Amino acid sequence: MIVNDFTVRVATEDDTVFAQGICDEMAESAKARGTGIARRSAEYVASKMREEKAVIAFHKDGTWAGFSYIETWGHGLYVANSGLIVNPIFRKNGLAKAIKTMTFFLSLKKYPGAKLFGITTGLAVMKINNELGYRPVPYSELTDDEQFWKGCASCVNYPILQSKGNKNCLCTAMLFDPAIDKPRVEKPDDPHL
Ligand SMILES: CC(C)(COP(=O)(O)OP(=O)(O)OC[C@H]1O[C@@H](n2cnc3c(N)ncnc32)[C@H](O)[C@@H]1OP(=O)(O)O)[C@@H](O)C(=O)NCCC(=O)NCCS
Repeated sequence: MIVNDFTVRVATEDDTVFAQGICDEMAESAKARGTGIARRSAEYVASKMREEKAVIAFHKDGTWAGFSYIETWGHGLYVANSGLIVNPIFRKNGLAKAIKTMTFFLSLKKYPGAKLFGITTGLAVMKINNELGYRPVPYSELTDDEQFWKGCASCVNYPILQSKGNKNCLCTAMLFDPAIDKPRVEKPDDPHL
């Protein structure tokens, strides 16, 4: 998928050289926003690339431009598109939207029937999710997989989540249930999707 001067595609083994840089930028951006994130190692990000469970974007000059990956929870019944990051020098070009659109359709293809969900405090992500067809839901509609909620432990707001027994926090939860919801955007023309 081409967006202006960028190519957005499913990541592969060849992209693993960018994993450390992507992780470093995820950590830097979280620090700058004053929020926490579910911290991931470069090895974890690289494994997502090898398994073709990630989407990566490049500028036409070869610079890494953006990334997101897929995680499954509750024995594959729930899928989260996580770790969205756009290189700061390339923000506000529509890249996050393109990356999330591709990750969304890749998730639908790889995990037919699974419920797609995300939690975020970010307006950009809320907007994009809404445009894809997600809707806001209470946390009761999300996975109760403890491993997912443990991922929040590195967030500054984790004590709030814990005090609410994983039933509420500052993030807005959004869900796309393929049994109910229909995609609101065109599927990109890509053989992986
Ligand atoms: C959030 C982030 C991914 C957005 O990337 P981007 O490529 O600049 O976003 P896009 O250009 O695709 O913008 C999508 C929409 O969000 C809006 N948007 C982008 N950044 C925004 C911001 N910081 N605040 C509010 N709205 C924003 C855009 O205006 C656009 O809306 P529109 O369609 O109505 O014009 C990027 O700023 C980033 O990597 N931030 C750090 C990591 C992060 O916050 N990840 C999300 C974790 S949930």
